[in-house]
Amino acid sequence: MEPINVGIIGCGSITKFRHAPEYKENPYVNEIVFYDRNPERSKELAAAFNGRVAETIDELLADPSIVAISDCSSNETHHINSSHALLKGKHVLCEKPIANTVQHAEEILDAQRQSGKKLMVDHNQRFTRVHQKTKEMIESKELGDVLTFKTTFGHQGPEGWGVDPSNATWFFKKDRSHSGVAGDLGIHKIDLIHYLLDDKIVDVHSFHGALDKVDENGDPIEVCDNVVCALKTEKGRIGTASFSWTYYGAEDNTTTIYCQEGILKIYHDQTHQLIVEYKNGEVAKYELEAIQTNDNQTNTGVIDEFVDCIIHDKEPVVTGKDAMSSLEVIEEIIS
Ligand SMILES: NC(=O)c1ccc[n+]([C@@H]2O[C@H](COP(=O)([O-])OP(=O)(O)OC[C@H]3O[C@@H](n4cnc5c(N)ncnc54)[C@H](O)[C@@H]3O)[C@@H](O)[C@H]2O)c1
Repeated sequence: MEPINVGIIGCGSITKFRHAPEYKENPYVNEIVFYDRNPERSKELAAAFNGRVAETIDELLADPSIVAISDCSSNETHHINSSHALLKGKHVLCEKPIANTVQHAEEILDAQRQSGKKLMVDHNQRFTRVHQKTKEMIESKELGDVLTFKTTFGHQGPEGWGVDPSNATWFFKKDRSHSGVAGDLGIHKIDLIHYLLDDKIVDVHSFHGALDKVDENGDPIEVCDNVVCALKTEKGRIGTASFSWTYYGAEDNTTTIYCQEGILKIYHDQTHQLIVEYKNGEVAKYELEAIQTNDNQTNTGVIDEFVDCIIHDKEPVVTGKDAMSSLEVIEEIIS
């Protein structure tokens, strides 16, 4: 098959560190076309990745050579950009969260149904080798059934990450990020639990608050910087989750899955990213990869999967429906 051209909407950090380099490395991708409402940013990335600039979104979406679009704009515009791209006949990889509200996510899912094009959402945690291995072990029932779980995702906050790093970041604004750390980090772990357990969270009890972060005026931010919650799944598993932008040390990306015959410990140890403790006292340690963090960007596998779905006409590993189901939990968590 002929290599494809792809377009990217939004030329901030996630484009610079993941989408653009991963498209660039993919052998089936010919050219990347960059669009940002701030034209300096699209020019910079087009130069860095030997691509081209589109001056407007209409120009980008009208380009017949572009087969697929990554929507890497900020959260409040995903439902506009991704729906628009789908209805213009492009396959879409939308960044997470799929949208800020379930209602907006519905618009994207409707556009996908109307267009018949592929829609994938960037829940990249599914793709790490450790999470893949964990899923295999859960599916094999080697440790019996899953009973309970504990997951967390926290780091020092997004104000140093975005293309325009400051306390004025959109991540801190209610009308742009909507759910703060819940939609930023929490949704990754909700999706991961759904995926690993092949289950769905149906009951939520949560506390959330803006405990420490301040905006550019020194006032507490408008969205939560911490969430702690108890969760129950459709199949009756119970667990806890915490999401934080105020873990002022190393990032915490750990998950523990407690099964009938032992425990799966994920990312508790830097060298052995998966440790399996069996009920009889035996321990198995797996050295699978170095964890991806904001400071250690490795290939996520997401772009390769998206391109592969297009080339081989396959259903994406993370569908719009999967992303919607995680967003529904996030809405409950912050309600
Ligand atoms: N999958 C992950 O692990 C992960 C990690 C970080 C960010 N993200 C997601 O990626 C998206 C972008 O985040 P980021 O960190 O790159 O933010 P960023 O602030 O660094 O960049 C966003 C860019 O999008 C542009 N933009 C915003 N709205 C636009 C629009 N309507 N049209 C054109 N350009 C627009 C901005 O000008 C900016 O250049 C967010 O949805 C975020 O949640 C995902």
